[in-house]
Amino acid sequence: MCGIVGAYQRGGDVLPSLVEGLRMLEYRGYDSVGVGVIVDGAIAVRRRAGRIADLEKVLADGALAGCRIGIGHSRWATHGAPTDANAHPHSDASGRVLVVHNGIIENDKDLRAELEAAGTTFTSETDTEVLAHLVAAHLAEAGGDLAKALRRALAKVRGYYAIAVLHQDASGEAQLVCAREGPPLCVGAGTDGTYLASDSLAILPHTRDVLFLEDGEIAVLTPDSIRLTNREGEEVEREAQHIDWDAEDADRGGFEHFMLKEIHEQPEVIARCVQGRADLEAGDVRLDGEFFGDERLRSVERLEVLACGTALHAGLVLKYLVEGLAGIPVDVDFASEYRYRRVPSARATVAIGISQSGETADTLAALRKARDQGCDLIAICNAQGSTMVREADASILIQAGPEIGVASTKAFVGMIVAAYLFALRLGRARGSLSGEAVRERLGELQRLRGAVEALLAKERVEGLRDLADRLADQKGFLFLGRGINYPIALEGALKLKEISYLHAEGYPAGEMKHGPIAMIEPDLGAVVLAPMDGVVDKVRSNIEQVKARGGPVVCVGTDPACLELADDAVEVPEIGEWLSPILNVVPLQLFSYYVALRRGCDIDKPRNLAKSVTVE
Ligand code: G6P
Repeated sequence: MCGIVGAYQRGGDVLPSLVEGLRMLEYRGYDSVGVGVIVDGAIAVRRRAGRIADLEKVLADGALAGCRIGIGHSRWATHGAPTDANAHPHSDASGRVLVVHNGIIENDKDLRAELEAAGTTFTSETDTEVLAHLVAAHLAEAGGDLAKALRRALAKVRGYYAIAVLHQDASGEAQLVCAREGPPLCVGAGTDGTYLASDSLAILPHTRDVLFLEDGEIAVLTPDSIRLTNREGEEVEREAQHIDWDAEDADRGGFEHFMLKEIHEQPEVIARCVQGRADLEAGDVRLDGEFFGDERLRSVERLEVLACGTALHAGLVLKYLVEGLAGIPVDVDFASEYRYRRVPSARATVAIGISQSGETADTLAALRKARDQGCDLIAICNAQGSTMVREADASILIQAGPEIGVASTKAFVGMIVAAYLFALRLGRARGSLSGEAVRERLGELQRLRGAVEALLAKERVEGLRDLADRLADQKGFLFLGRGINYPIALEGALKLKEISYLHAEGYPAGEMKHGPIAMIEPDLGAVVLAPMDGVVDKVRSNIEQVKARGGPVVCVGTDPACLELADDAVEVPEIGEWLSPILNVVPLQLFSYYVALRRGCDIDKPRNLAKSVTVE
């Protein structure tokens, strides 16, 4: 992660277009940045932890000016801390092959060990560096053809990546290629040369005709041409797509708001979080670190989840997952409460912090207190290198990429996927789940991405928009759910409150009769979650009770009778109970978004809220 740019110009100076491209991808978030060019027949690299402005200071000496070919990268740390040495581009030992990369190389450790055994010295902690050495190792047998060497190198790689490679051979010939297997990558020919980028936004200043690479494809760029080949090395002919966004739309990848863009990224987030962790063969989950080994996990007696806001709701889902799948008791607490409460020290043996940013002050303070009470700490977090990840004994990174919208969406889904993987690993380590049972659950997880994609299909989203438009003037909503979907009711209410400023309350459906039912009237109805589980009959009677008092009911779920009974039905694809929270939350996110849009709210920056609350 996170942004790739590259260019091969006929003349002029490539640096300004690389820096401009990186700046256009800045909105995605990053923690270090770098460029590599060929100047006077030799490769030169400049990279810095920090902002683009920091890199520009280094480039101001003009030493790299006047080159025609180069690549650039903005990095959001996943393997190794955000340091100068870990910033991209990375080169091979000869300094002739230069690589920038988004994504993950899953078998990085094995490849690194093999290369080290053959005498390669590594200069960074990144998985990317492996690619540079591997490509270099295949160049001779590929007759100096960079695309061929890259294809051979990639045949050894397992992972999820977009990469660009620059090569300068001894005779002075330069080559630029890029390849995709997962994360997006595109190329385009402008009037003064050819360009590549991880986001079409960075191509648009040069041309509006953009060619998107498909998985397994490699593009070879020269100043006058772009040649595309597939996995087998056969030539591919494909028309470029004409993009007619204006710069402002393009900032958000064509979406009206970051929140909407991030909702639509959720299928990819699921894939990224699962990638490299699901071991179908063994019927197990692989999580990095000794902590997640059988022996350590067998000694866990009780878990304490500490978090705030949306992350706390993910923690409540984790409780259902871990108690249900691994049989370990889990307490979930508001970090802000836990930090000041008198807690008996033996209450839990392991504390889990959940956080998008890894910097939320209350969560950090609560975790430090848990540590003082004798707990080991696990972080489920989106920000590698964050304080929470650094302080924890072990962490599960959710790999959702930077989240810009204040209202958390894709990070929430990533947190639940991470919790699911953790619960499966725990269950397997402790023998409550067999290999076969885990394999079955992993199979469901594989279906999840497609199911979320189906939910985000245009006509479904339009349907939710119509519904939101009709209900945007309601006084408020009750969100009701039971079991593992009770936290989703809380999250649905929180999303609506945060961005539309409408009153909303999340309740366990069984509690409706103990108070909230008094609020029901024609302009205060309920959003009811109805998966087909053991308590769906009771949810059905909730719907009847709300309707009997004149309140409108929206039903989200799979139970046909509930969907039939409600005034409005939002049917979601079938999936097992444990993953149903993810399919139910997506329509709720979209509903909140469109209600807020209708009400003219500032969706990405709701009033009074901050993305990351680093003070108490
Ligand atoms: C703020 C944000 C919420 C977020 C919460 C916890 O309140 O507005 O969206 O859920 O902080 O943030 P974290 O970074 O710890 O997940």
